[in-house]
Amino acid sequence: MADELRVRLAGYPSLVLGLPTGNTPVPFYQELIRLHRASLLSLAQATSFNLDEYLGLAPGDPRSFRAWMQAQLFSQVDLPANRTHLPDPVEPAAAAEESRRYELLIREAGGVDWMLLGIGRNGHIGFNEPGSPRTSRTRLVELEAKTIADAAKTFGGEQHVPRRAITMGIGTILEARAIRVMAFGSAKAEIVQRALTGEPTELVPASLLAGHADVRFLLDTESARLLSQ
Ligand code: PGA
Repeated sequence: MADELRVRLAGYPSLVLGLPTGNTPVPFYQELIRLHRASLLSLAQATSFNLDEYLGLAPGDPRSFRAWMQAQLFSQVDLPANRTHLPDPVEPAAAAEESRRYELLIREAGGVDWMLLGIGRNGHIGFNEPGSPRTSRTRLVELEAKTIADAAKTFGGEQHVPRRAITMGIGTILEARAIRVMAFGSAKAEIVQRALTGEPTELVPASLLAGHADVRFLLDTESARLLSQ
């Protein structure tokens, strides 16, 4: 995955990237940093848009996705700070306006060229939980219990996890020119099977990616375990 991005950037340095947070992309970001330090990859002319951000956190909160991206990637590569975008962690009342601003920024950048995604155990992409409309745009969403449980460690207990977030919509994600999805480990085996072998349905948001013209999945043996049955 990192090598594909290296080659794409070499041919087209002003690429617009869609980026995820989570455990899944960590090795990918580490590889980007390694390639950058070896002078084999530059993001100096690229732009990034992250998928999502929690609502109601103070700007700079260390548990925000902005802070996570800063630590895991932005501070260690040459992506200019003013071209790294995430939704702002505004109060819910300001979420509609922030969502419109984010959609407009993506449009003004010419759309996302290369979108990287993880998959939640419930099939979410970004924070598009099961039932999210296929045509949805960037908007305020309520997080599901499974998503809250998965974030509990970061927040020191489920009760501290924000209940709401802003996410790029499924329609927004599907407009990316290329989509790459990563899922690793046995905890993802069941959802990978549902996403890749079932009928596309809004109940499994990742299954809606099947209709995209340029989508690829990167799996390991554990996450692909149920595919050959
Ligand atoms: P994970 O999260 O990479 O931490 O498993 C994936 C997701 O929820 O999209």
